[in-house]
Amino acid sequence: MQRAFPEPFRFKAIERIHLPSQEDRERALKEAHFNMFALKAKDVYIDLLTDSGTGALSKEQWAALMLGDESYAGADSFFRLKDAVKDMLGFDYIVPAHQGRAAENILIGSLVKPGDFIPINMPFDTTRAHIFNAQSQPINCVVDAAFNPELEQPFKGNVDLAKLEDALKTHGDKIPFVMVTVTNNSGGGQPVSLQNLRDVSAMAKKYGKKLFLDAARMAENAFFIKEREPECAKMSVAAILKAMMDTADGATISCKKDPMVNIGGLVVLRSEEDYMSLLPRVVLFEGFITYGGLAGRDLDALAVGLREMVDEEYLAHRLSQVRMLGDMLIEGGVPIIRPVGGHAIFIDACRFFPHIPQKYFPADVLSIEIYREGAVRGVGLGALAFEDKDPVTGEKIMPKLELYRMAIARRTYSNSHMEYIAQTVVDVYKRRDAVRYGLKLTYEPPVPGITHFLARLEPFSL
Ligand code: F0G
Repeated sequence: MQRAFPEPFRFKAIERIHLPSQEDRERALKEAHFNMFALKAKDVYIDLLTDSGTGALSKEQWAALMLGDESYAGADSFFRLKDAVKDMLGFDYIVPAHQGRAAENILIGSLVKPGDFIPINMPFDTTRAHIFNAQSQPINCVVDAAFNPELEQPFKGNVDLAKLEDALKTHGDKIPFVMVTVTNNSGGGQPVSLQNLRDVSAMAKKYGKKLFLDAARMAENAFFIKEREPECAKMSVAAILKAMMDTADGATISCKKDPMVNIGGLVVLRSEEDYMSLLPRVVLFEGFITYGGLAGRDLDALAVGLREMVDEEYLAHRLSQVRMLGDMLIEGGVPIIRPVGGHAIFIDACRFFPHIPQKYFPADVLSIEIYREGAVRGVGLGALAFEDKDPVTGEKIMPKLELYRMAIARRTYSNSHMEYIAQTVVDVYKRRDAVRYGLKLTYEPPVPGITHFLARLEPFSL
């Protein structure tokens, strides 16, 4: 196993974390109705629920917070952010938003009509929920390799061009734009190649459609391109990132991921016409167009984070840290999605617990058992999160992947935390046969696509 690169930073402030007793963990699970989202953070030792907004700021970002201009309109902070977007991503127009799904609400809510279809490699949960909310449907165009957890391929986030062309031919005028998520979160944090982005862009153009990226983890994607796409090996990550953006007409960005802030989102755009078409919805839902639901200081921290995210020493550390965790799990026999993605380890819960049927939510059983074992919190991303209903029969359709995700916050946990996490998971794996229960829903929210956030669950013996 390759050791991870040591952290290219040192501590300046610390945050104590505590390992709750076994009794406290059992109490916490019951109080949370066995849903990881309902646990209190104080009852968690290592929190891998998400890499979203959970990272540590740099001292430069803390300093930038003091520069925040809190003017309602036209604040200096907005223009510093605009400059950072232009420098790093090349777009002229920006719409700040309070987070990624707010950016999605602005783009999808403004441009998508009932009955539309959005071809996308694979939407993440909130993107999918926003597409549903606009009374439209995603069309999954990811390559088949994405559904084969063991297959080692460099770009399992890629769009299958034949599937995309088929969607464009079949639904032509009902497709407002094409979307590509970089990296593909739902499919294991897998990257999309630059060549694939260029091909998708050309195809979208051929059919007169715009291409938007869901670019939450764009810097990690760019680093993977540098490592895995031979033509790009000599380019800097910053140059690759620019080249990725050059393929698109715009992007929605959850800035709580690679751009390294605790809160913030963006829509970035190339054309003034697109920009103008989104503005009414910004004013309705987010705030004035130069702050979009954020404080001036948030805009400044983001302007710095956008520049920091392409630091290649940081990225080399980050991706090798996640990979090291993956290698330790593989060594312990744990079935994870391969190759290891950028921000998280995804465990194939159907192979971990082959005796628990998917309809009884094995990924969520795994989240309970890993919490029980070591107070480590991850999240199930399987049937509970991504179940579909047949539009005609109303019958439940199981997702192709039943995954448990451990997302690693940026610049937050050390390589030795990875060893603790791996040991915890391997210990659960050793006693997997004795885990003989499934979960049933005792509460389900009435809005499609968000069940896992709000569900209440109850274990029952199998
Ligand atoms: N797009 C992708 C690919 C995401 O992973 C997320 C969020 C969003 C959009 C929405 O952004 O949270 O800022 O509103 N993913 C988080 C996660 C929450 O845990 O993976 P947001």
